[in-house]
Amino acid sequence: MSTVMNLIRTRATVSALSVASSKQVRCMSATPKPIPKPDIKYAKIFINNQFVDALSGKTFKTINPTTEEVICEVAEGDKADVDRAVNAAREAFKLGSPWRTMDATDRQNLMLRLADLIERDRNYLASLETLDNGKPFSASFAVDLDLTIKCYRYHAGWATKNGGKVVPMDGNYFSYVRHEPVGVCGQIIPWNFPLLMQAWKLGPALAMGNTVVMKPAEQTPLTALYIAQLAAEAGYPPGVLNIVPGYGPTAGAAIAQHMDVDKVAFTGSTEIGQLVSQMAARTNLKRVTLELGGKSPQIVFADSDLENALNSTHQGLFFNQGQCCTAGSRVFVEDKIYNDFVELATERAKKRTVGNPFSDVDQGPQVDSDQLNKILELINSGKKEGAKLTTGGQRVGDKGYFVAPTVFADVKDDMRIAKEEIFGPVMQILKFKSDKDLLDRAHNTIYGLAASVYTKDVNRAIFLANSLRAGTVWVNCHNVFDTTLPFGGYKMSGHGRELGEYGISAYTEVKSVIVSIPQKNS
Ligand code: NAI
Ligand code: MG
Repeated sequence: MSTVMNLIRTRATVSALSVASSKQVRCMSATPKPIPKPDIKYAKIFINNQFVDALSGKTFKTINPTTEEVICEVAEGDKADVDRAVNAAREAFKLGSPWRTMDATDRQNLMLRLADLIERDRNYLASLETLDNGKPFSASFAVDLDLTIKCYRYHAGWATKNGGKVVPMDGNYFSYVRHEPVGVCGQIIPWNFPLLMQAWKLGPALAMGNTVVMKPAEQTPLTALYIAQLAAEAGYPPGVLNIVPGYGPTAGAAIAQHMDVDKVAFTGSTEIGQLVSQMAARTNLKRVTLELGGKSPQIVFADSDLENALNSTHQGLFFNQGQCCTAGSRVFVEDKIYNDFVELATERAKKRTVGNPFSDVDQGPQVDSDQLNKILELINSGKKEGAKLTTGGQRVGDKGYFVAPTVFADVKDDMRIAKEEIFGPVMQILKFKSDKDLLDRAHNTIYGLAASVYTKDVNRAIFLANSLRAGTVWVNCHNVFDTTLPFGGYKMSGHGRELGEYGISAYTEVKSVIVSIPQKNS
């Protein structure tokens, strides 16, 4: 054991960024230049390519999670503003409008131009994301911006490629299937990856010719509004993209309940996902796609490459301050290596640097005081329920929403920390004896978003990959994403898929056209 431990101790620890991001770091297009105090250029509602105040005149504060200071006031949209935005989106969607008559190639080129503009302003956008969200600038720049730009470029290509089909049918008919846009799409996004979640939603929606009313999270509205301006600069016609910052129960609910919204896409908590689904069903049965929570298992076998498993499970949980829907927060470790693993994982967590996200740190603050309090409450429940705290377990400092990287060992399946989504830098390590009851234990959750397996045994890896009820299964890695691959959840982690060809279908209506061909007697 000690040989393995020494080997791992002496090797360099992986950087702040996830293993998954190393490829992205290599293809960075410019040297990052953080701007610790970026100018706030846009903080109003965006409708018809113009920034306007809320009809109520109200504003809300967006807070810097590093300092708890107010960054700026943002126009607070509610139902009346959503109505205005939906009208604009409906107008832009009408047959004969510039958007509906635009060639698919032009739609593709608009999105490529948007990606170029994001690349031009990459430093600024990465800085603004860090200011509003708190994630380390190095991650904003290398991971979020890189994946965002790629996401738009990938979806641009689909504009010209989502063709229908000619399908044979009985009788004297000519029939074909058309792929059409769904219409006005409402999109409600969270704060953990503001730019990237916006790209995941706008990419397929706009490439397919839909129009959009989007509500960014109230914690992080700023980068979404800047992208709106870039979309106008790129040349998107007025009304195609509308952004209404505001709160969930007002602006968000107005989108989900709107009779003239054809589809709603939501990413956030399972609780609100259920509400959104109900609101959609009760009103106009708008189409619904949901990306919700998770409590993803990472399963480490004694035969795995231990160094890789340690690094990957670490990033799989701690990346983005633990604020990932895919966070691998239940680490199941085979009993033979359990004690060693706990010791090494604890050491690894202790090395994490926490502080100002504009400096060279692994971890910034959590996004807001609600999240901080939720995490601290769950940590306390873990202590009370008898889990063994091996490091962390408290807030760091008294300014800013920082949480010490935390590891719990001896976690039992029925503890709250093994069941509830913590969404913070808190790792649970559980022990398993054989693969016999492992699947049942891994499935002992309402969620089914992701899972990972660490082993050198290819048969076992494939067996578990096929058996695990999760939308994504990683083998010997975690948190590796690509815009080409569908992403979404089984069970209460949501329904529908984003990204790839499957994501395109969520923004496509399908129409059968049947043409009668008169029979001529010749
Ligand atoms: P949330 O689900 O309340 O917020 C996500 C989005 O939904 C935000 O834009 C919010 O304004 C909107 N929203 C809230 N209430 C709404 C309503 N009644 N109708 C329509 N839209 C509404 O998540 P919150 O409160 O920010 O975080 C709570 C927990 O949710 C987190 O601790 C985490 O466990 C989970 N979460 C999961 C995310 C994921 O990526 N799957 C992202 C964010 C949060
Ligand atoms: Mg909420």
